[in-house]
Amino acid sequence: MDAQEIRSAYLEFFVARGHAVIERAPLVLREDPTTLFTGAGMQPLMPYLLGVREHGAGPLLVDSQPCVRAQDIDEVGDRRHTTFFEMLGNWSLGTADVEQQVRWFAEFLTTVGVDLGRLYVTCFRGSPEHGIPRDDAAARAWVTVFTEHGVAAPLVDVGSRADGDREGMRGGRVFLYDSEENWWSRGGGLEGTPVGDPCGPDSEVFYDLGPEHHDPSVGEPHPASEGGRFVEIGNQVFMRYRRTSEGFVALDEPSIDFGGGLERIAAAAAGTPDVFDVSLLRPLVDRLEELSGRTYAEDPRPFRVIADHVRAATFLAADGVRPSNKTHGYVLRRLVRRAVVHALHLGLEERFADDLVAVVAETYGESYASLVEQREELSAVLHDEEARFRRTVHRGLRELEKLQGATVTGEDLFVLADTWGFPVELSVDEVRRRGMALATDWREVYALHRERQRTRSRAAAR
Ligand code: ALA
Repeated sequence: MDAQEIRSAYLEFFVARGHAVIERAPLVLREDPTTLFTGAGMQPLMPYLLGVREHGAGPLLVDSQPCVRAQDIDEVGDRRHTTFFEMLGNWSLGTADVEQQVRWFAEFLTTVGVDLGRLYVTCFRGSPEHGIPRDDAAARAWVTVFTEHGVAAPLVDVGSRADGDREGMRGGRVFLYDSEENWWSRGGGLEGTPVGDPCGPDSEVFYDLGPEHHDPSVGEPHPASEGGRFVEIGNQVFMRYRRTSEGFVALDEPSIDFGGGLERIAAAAAGTPDVFDVSLLRPLVDRLEELSGRTYAEDPRPFRVIADHVRAATFLAADGVRPSNKTHGYVLRRLVRRAVVHALHLGLEERFADDLVAVVAETYGESYASLVEQREELSAVLHDEEARFRRTVHRGLRELEKLQGATVTGEDLFVLADTWGFPVELSVDEVRRRGMALATDWREVYALHRERQRTRSRAAAR
């Protein structure tokens, strides 16, 4: 099954189990000032998870929610990170049958072709000092479900991630970790849970790419390791508690929040370690190969950056974001500009935005009709930004070239940005890519330059 089929199969699977499909939320949530963009499927559902409102579609919901995590922009270029992704989500509001949720997810994964024998699962080991017991319900459910599918499922109590780095897998299938790994709250972790908020243990599901994908410099392999062998494909949050000023109290009506990355699930179903191989990204890579005459296999990084950034920029523009020097618009601007610089690495001197926006619209058209309807407008938005930046990019790169061999200082970056219009973060990218030395004061320069840009755009707006 390709990713588009997996998206449909997911919605159909949960509809057949009593869930209502809810409409996707926009990438910019006007009512939620806590983040710049929708970054998880549950974010638009927070009032219902908090119990403040009852959802009109009932207690069982399902969707596929486009998300943007701008904070991951510097990670893009490897096999698994993207700034834009779709999160498959399902929710049980005020009703929480843990075993059924685990069973559903495992059954769905087998339906779309994921080999359960390559999955490893983590659950919460409990926190006696906070009076919270180990999450036996989730751990037991996973052991039962794996065993029913003929997969041996020994339970291993790891402790912390550092313990896992030291001790490794110990033959486990289901692993118990502390609250740093397996506790969900809006503040992140147990101690960070805001008073008044619902929270609870979670259970993360990892796909094993194979031992050869582990980086031994971080220690022994285990699911929560940073070593690269295990990729998280889904997370089930069991919202069973509320934090009060007296401590954590059990909720009378707990909920379940599930979220899983569509591309990662599609990659696991196809048995590939590379999300850029899945059917939502590969057409962009293929088009870039045609345009550049280069091959992805030879040097995948620029292909990945351009494919991810153009896709994210297209979706942002479709949701009404326009390039600017502020907040949402600045992220869009940064995405297009980074794509232009990486296009130069592929030798692409010509405009590419129109071509690639067309590929995004075609790839997503069936589920996102607005991309097709707005295609010309979206192309124009990206193309204008591309054209504007192309005028400065060569000058900037030429100036940077002159610094080869020297340590690039904050002042150099400032001049590049202020005189030549070459953004500080792109200079830093380039400096790193070329293996040039960078002085430690660059972050101060970056902050200074951003402030100056803001002052200018405020002045221009007056
Ligand atoms: N809301 C949960 C997450 O983002 C599922 O991991």
